[in-house]
Amino acid sequence: MSPTNPRILPYGTAAIAEAAALIRAGECVAVPTETVYGLAADATESRAVAGIYAAKGRPSFNPLIVHVPDLAAAERIAVFDDRARDLATRFWPGPLTLVLPVRPDAGIASLVTAGLDTIAIRVPRHRAMQALLEASGKPLAAPSANASGSISPTRAEHVAKSLAGRIPLVIDDGATPAGVESTIVMGDQILRPGPLTQAELFPGESRGPGLQIDVPGDPGPRLSPGSKEGIIAPGQLDSHYAPSKPVRLNADSARDGEYFIGFGPIPGTETLSAAGDLTEAAANLFDALHRADASDAPAIAVAPIPATGIGLAINDRLRRAAF
Ligand code: TXA
Ligand code: MG
Repeated sequence: MSPTNPRILPYGTAAIAEAAALIRAGECVAVPTETVYGLAADATESRAVAGIYAAKGRPSFNPLIVHVPDLAAAERIAVFDDRARDLATRFWPGPLTLVLPVRPDAGIASLVTAGLDTIAIRVPRHRAMQALLEASGKPLAAPSANASGSISPTRAEHVAKSLAGRIPLVIDDGATPAGVESTIVMGDQILRPGPLTQAELFPGESRGPGLQIDVPGDPGPRLSPGSKEGIIAPGQLDSHYAPSKPVRLNADSARDGEYFIGFGPIPGTETLSAAGDLTEAAANLFDALHRADASDAPAIAVAPIPATGIGLAINDRLRRAAF
């Protein structure tokens, strides 16, 4: 492990220029988005994309999200229907990923889609990712910038610790605002709950049973069982976001030795939100898990989080952390 890598550069013109040069040279660079820090590489170069998989130790069947600067760029890569275009118009730039048919002639490396005929694509809002897209002039494949299966990064230091010696550069622009990964939508189905909720995405529509999410205490995975590919959003691997120690959910109080993460009226070693605010809790979630993981406590417990709105995404990530 190289003790000097990755370098951490504060967001600014110099950092973006250096990151863009690394991207054009086929390297990966960690950059914040409004959700979590991403590990970005040129989505049109298979060797660059292979570098992402290698740095993360990610199973090669798990495809990546491609980031583009705007809807026009997305339409050159994926085939939009009216529903997808409506969602894109309403929520881009922002924490929404659309799974759409990929245009075979768009030049996206097949390693990005892991051989699927669909692609996950989004237009991020964060200034750093937008600046890197503009400066590099490339569509950027970017999964969360952490070792595969471990807790997602919401701070530059999380990235540096998880990928030490494996990547050259992290652009540091502070904590990511949303704190959980983008909502992934395919057709009228939410494949991964995230900052944008079902009620915001599909107001007035009652959803089918495609996504079973987050009744606290329900241990099941939440993928549509009838999906053609078996795994629709392969990131729905059960163990994900996992700290290195046991995690107990829906706990009313700490047991001996536990690092207790509270919420609302239930206090703890620390709290996701003393006010019981779910948006604040989402922003704090992975940071709290990182602290709990780094603490001396042999186990982690988390207070119940209401499974409504972005609370669905919080419960989804917590259940995977506990799996
Ligand atoms: O907020 C986010 O989405 C962050 C930031 C960096 O943009 N990225 C992120 O990427 O969470 P990643 O690679 O950790 O998650 C990608 C998810 C996985 O669940 C993957 O299986 C799913 O997207 N995915 C990618 N391509 C897909 C496809 N063609 N069909 C279905 N799911 C797909
Ligand atoms: Mg991830």
